[in-house]
Amino acid sequence: MNSSTQTIPQHTQIPQHIAVIMDGNGRWAKKRFLPRVMGHKRGLDALENMVRNCVESGVRYLTVFAFSTENWRRPEEEVSFLMGLFLQALQKQVKRLHENNIRVRVIGSRERFNEEICRGIAAAEALTAANTGLTLTIAADYGGRWDILQAVGKLMAAGETDISEEKLAAHLMLGDAPEPDLFIRTGGETRISNFLLWQMAYAELYFTDILWPDFDRKALDAAIASFQNRERRFGRTSEQLPQDQQRS
Ligand code: IPE
Ligand code: IPE
Ligand code: MG
Repeated sequence: MNSSTQTIPQHTQIPQHIAVIMDGNGRWAKKRFLPRVMGHKRGLDALENMVRNCVESGVRYLTVFAFSTENWRRPEEEVSFLMGLFLQALQKQVKRLHENNIRVRVIGSRERFNEEICRGIAAAEALTAANTGLTLTIAADYGGRWDILQAVGKLMAAGETDISEEKLAAHLMLGDAPEPDLFIRTGGETRISNFLLWQMAYAELYFTDILWPDFDRKALDAAIASFQNRERRFGRTSEQLPQDQQRS
């Protein structure tokens, strides 16, 4: 797969790959005097809408951060609610995704998930593996540093001593997907929180104060419009870009 630091990626009006940190569920609930977990429930609805909106907009890959390697630090009650919600989504929503030709993948470490969740993940991936529509990747127990380390581990196990960018990139969890063109973080924080560290080298970053459960079609359109106004130079000068890609 092409790497933005090795070759210049193809320019498209609609981002081919959007990566999202779905943040702000807890605050959404708190504002309404509801328990935090209600925010997560509504967050799952927002994800369902987001998938539909991405399909309608012509996005090919959607990668969402559902649970970070650091989120295990949360209160046990919240963690177990999130696990329950994940399992429920795997069991119920995947069928609908399959009907819509969506390929589902889960990236992250499986070590801390219970057997039921692991089975649910395997079943969801197997059911949708041959689908040719949007690829929805759910990052769960995922961390960008963990991803880079596991890629290095695989290379070492294969006896590889001559490690290059291409070889490492190919062993990352998203090794066969184009790098994200657009990164969206809702909830107002302006940080990456250990999401796709390697792959975001040249992603356009978009931060919004909208809380994830409120992120709707209009909000996605605004993010895409912002993306379309960016001049993606990949190290070159503005003058070197084709005329239709110059923005100033
Ligand atoms: C994001 O929402 C969802 C997960 C991390 C699972 P938060 O739960 O982080 O919501 P805030 O940031 O507390 O509002
Ligand atoms: C990042 O959100 C992870 C997910 C959305 C799953 P957090 O809310 O956990 O991030 P921090 O801790 O505020 O950086
Ligand atoms: Mg948060």
